[in-house]
Amino acid sequence: MSTEPMTRTARTSLANLAIIAALAPTLACTGQIDGGGSVDTPPPSSLERMSDLLCLRKMALDLTHRAPAPEAMARVERGEATLDQLADELLVSPEFKQVSFDWMRQEFTPTNLTTAETDVEEPARLMHHVLLEDRDWREVLTATYTVDKDGVEHEITDRPAAGILSTRYGLQSTVGSFRRNWAGRFERQFAGITLVAVTLPLDQMIDVSPDGLAGNAACAGCHVHPTYGIDSLARFAQCYDDHGDRIADCTDPDASFLLQTGRGLPDLGRIAASTNEFKSQAINFFFKRLFGRELAREEAAYYSDAAGLFAASGYQARALIKHFVTSEAYCSR
Ligand code: HEC
Repeated sequence: MSTEPMTRTARTSLANLAIIAALAPTLACTGQIDGGGSVDTPPPSSLERMSDLLCLRKMALDLTHRAPAPEAMARVERGEATLDQLADELLVSPEFKQVSFDWMRQEFTPTNLTTAETDVEEPARLMHHVLLEDRDWREVLTATYTVDKDGVEHEITDRPAAGILSTRYGLQSTVGSFRRNWAGRFERQFAGITLVAVTLPLDQMIDVSPDGLAGNAACAGCHVHPTYGIDSLARFAQCYDDHGDRIADCTDPDASFLLQTGRGLPDLGRIAASTNEFKSQAINFFFKRLFGRELAREEAAYYSDAAGLFAASGYQARALIKHFVTSEAYCSR
């Protein structure tokens, strides 16, 4: 079978390196493995610590989009407040509330599949709620509740609930045949795994059903694979139509992701939330908001510190953000 030249890329974030490295020999679909940021980062030794006042300014601009209050600067100058204390104050300010909501809103935008009725902000509201209430960040994928426009939590009882996965936006914004595009997006967003779909030759009849791809050596490497197989993952969402409604009398089939099996979105949420890939995506998400770039390969120690702190805090995003803005790296240049 002749196919056109294809771009084949598997990109992954720092914590995925081990798993991808172990898989690399069997990865039929990877031409290039890129372990995270490609930005040049100066070695830590060449960085100089900035003054507390300057660091406070940087922190205030990042967390509130405003310069620090004169009174806060005066307290730092007189040695009456530490950066640690001021970080705590900024992180409970109304301005931070707004800034952090915007971080999340940017992740979920209308697509050509959403309609005017789609509640596009529902996933961002849920994430924001988890942050502001100091809940376990993994609830983003496992919550059995949603959050309305007034920020009030409502338990979901009419369908299987799995945080932002079971929102209408989550099920409607990316679909395509057999939910493969949905699965592709899921891997990029929650596991940091990017598989670039191949371009199919137009002049050939190829069986593109799940069984067809499973039996085609050129396709099975990406489509049927217990770790990141697109079709194996897509089956978690098989019982939903393109509008995001649950198909009547549908029974969730066996599905798998990252070597774990289950049925339906709540199982997928639970599986994904327990992985290092998800943790690493969360850490990278906040790191990027504060440092304006991805974590670089040579920052493995910095990553492990952050990951340790995040886990020890019970996965509180606010604790992670505080850890970043009070770190030496943040206050250095
Ligand atoms: C490099 C990995 C990779 C390989 C190899 C691969 N695919 Fe895919 N394929 C994907 C990904 C990823 C998606 C989901 C697209 C996305 O991310 O939005 C996809 C989606 C698809 C879709 C759904 C497109 C849609 O819009 O509904 C079809 C059909 C498909 N692939 C067919 C094939 C066939 C046939 C082969 C073998 C000739 C193949 N693929 C090989 C990664 C791959």
